[in-house]
Amino acid sequence: MLQLPKVIGHRGAMAYAPENTLESFREARRRGATWVEIDVKLTADAVPIVMHDSSLARTMGVERLAAETPRAELPAAVPTFEQAIDCFRELGLGCNVEIKPCEGREAETARVTVETLRRCWPADLPPPLLSSFKDASLLAAFQAAPEFARALLIGALGDDWQARAQAVSAAGINTNGKLLTAPRAVEVRKAGYALSVYTINDGDVARALVGMGVDCVITDAPDVILEALGGVSPGR
Ligand code: G3P
Ligand code: MG
Repeated sequence: MLQLPKVIGHRGAMAYAPENTLESFREARRRGATWVEIDVKLTADAVPIVMHDSSLARTMGVERLAAETPRAELPAAVPTFEQAIDCFRELGLGCNVEIKPCEGREAETARVTVETLRRCWPADLPPPLLSSFKDASLLAAFQAAPEFARALLIGALGDDWQARAQAVSAAGINTNGKLLTAPRAVEVRKAGYALSVYTINDGDVARALVGMGVDCVITDAPDVILEALGGVSPGR
């Protein structure tokens, strides 16, 4: 069974700092997170960067697509994946690397991501967890680097969740905690998958989800959820 922390900081600690920035990772660490979740996509020249949206507009105020921007023209506040990994090394942070490809670059993004992990991931940090909403990305990651554990990201679990997970040899399921039902949580845990939920910022909701068997809560406010879950063990 995949070993995950009880709490992962979403895009760092985005309740407190600009998402997916080095500042956000430092803030997550300060607030007690031992892991963060980040989104990785490619620039025009195929450099992996940490960025959620396809466009730079919302977070950087620049009306340009990441996929059409070369690395040299990126705003300085957007970390490359390698810069993020250097920061995790310094802070001792684990990472859930969400492969967030731009349209049509599902396999390429996965291959560049795992190549970077093979080259740069520090041996003294816990092994990273890859996740993606794109089955094609997870399959490409599995084929290129099966050693990195994978979790399938699914908004709401349908009846095909296990077939999809098996197709990419996933060890975990990461799902929308607000849409998760207790029977589905039991089904996932009984089938032997680690179960993570996003994005939960309310302590009572986090406690209820852990009571349903959830292993890991991905949150914008790691301090709030860590405090709420103090001493709460997954109900299995
Ligand atoms: O990986 C959990 C969560 O980040 C998935 O949704 O849109 O915030 O990347 P999103
Ligand atoms: Mg994400």
